[in-house]
Amino acid sequence: MSQLKNDLLLRTLRKEKVERPPVWMMRQAGRYLPDYLKLKAKYDFFTRVQTPELATAITLQPVDQVGVDAAIIFSDILVIPQAMGLEVLMEEGKGPSLPGTIKTQKDIDALITTGVEESLHYVTDALSLTKKELNGRVPLIGFAGAPWTILCYMVEGKGSKTWDKAKRFAYTETNMAHQLLQKITDITINYLKAQAKAGADVLQVFDSWAGCLSPGDFKTFAQPYLIQIADALQKEVPVILFPKGSWYALKDLSESSAAGLGIDWCVTPQYARELTGNKITLQGNFDPSRLLAPIPEIKKWVKEMIDGFGTQNYIANLGHGITPDVPVDHAKAFVEAVKEYGC
Ligand code: CP3
Repeated sequence: MSQLKNDLLLRTLRKEKVERPPVWMMRQAGRYLPDYLKLKAKYDFFTRVQTPELATAITLQPVDQVGVDAAIIFSDILVIPQAMGLEVLMEEGKGPSLPGTIKTQKDIDALITTGVEESLHYVTDALSLTKKELNGRVPLIGFAGAPWTILCYMVEGKGSKTWDKAKRFAYTETNMAHQLLQKITDITINYLKAQAKAGADVLQVFDSWAGCLSPGDFKTFAQPYLIQIADALQKEVPVILFPKGSWYALKDLSESSAAGLGIDWCVTPQYARELTGNKITLQGNFDPSRLLAPIPEIKKWVKEMIDGFGTQNYIANLGHGITPDVPVDHAKAFVEAVKEYGC
């Protein structure tokens, strides 16, 4: 295994002392980068995801051009429903849609549950290739969607503000919901193990729509599955859980086997620390819309954010994915501000 030249992220996740916090941005490989748009104009979304050379080129863009301390593999959380046999469409301006939604026991029984890692070999191939191309410059992050968030897409069939169909399914077909969540969990564990084997140094689990659940429902439908995943992977590589919107779960999750917890901007750094008692590394939580403000403001807010979290056991990041309208020099200013902190 090649020695990492920049292992700030790994040391931070091991709670070791670091010179400064590492920084990366969720969705850093994406549409705010002109070179990404050039590839997007030539190849459709799943061609980009399924062609290791393209996925690798896209993964490296923010490392080369924005100076982040970690690469995250270019892929999508919806490759899991796809590998389980559901059609996933990615239409421009519309977001993802899954025409064959899950409604009945028959639908759940028909899902493919074996050989999923094999059918997702393009992700592990892309990880191996990226690892080689990175040549130890920065760590490589692999990822998957959390079972609750994947259920949301499988049942709702598209993005939603309220996820009311997914929630109705959970509250009225509770037994089926748990069966589905468990199937997704088992597959995700194998998939993430394959990612670690292919070279992922860290794994992040995105529970993007956890925040639509009440604290009690989060404990029923999201938390147990997140914990199963963290437990199953902890011996392989550090796991970061990102239950967006679920600040109320931070205390419980800080006592899990996860190495890091991602938080959004709806919780202050100080309160997140109070809830987690410095037991775990925290990641976040800059509002991505703040990257649209003038650069001096961005730099001031980054300083305030790090003042709030402290420089140790902390990974500077956004509180959700970067949006396509962010100017590249603003993204760079965010990264630079972290690197300049305290210097
Ligand atoms: O972080 C990275 O740079 C790695 C790449 C990555 C993508 N999707 C690429 C992508 C990651 C980590 C994801 C995860 C993902 N995908 C999540 C969890 C993170 C989050 O933001 O909450 C979710 C919910 C999805 C589902 C998904 N995929 C949506 C809602 C969309 C449409 C977004 C839109 O605004 O159109 C996608 C498509 C997608 N995945 C794009 C990218 C760069 C944009 C489409 C394109 O460029 O053609």
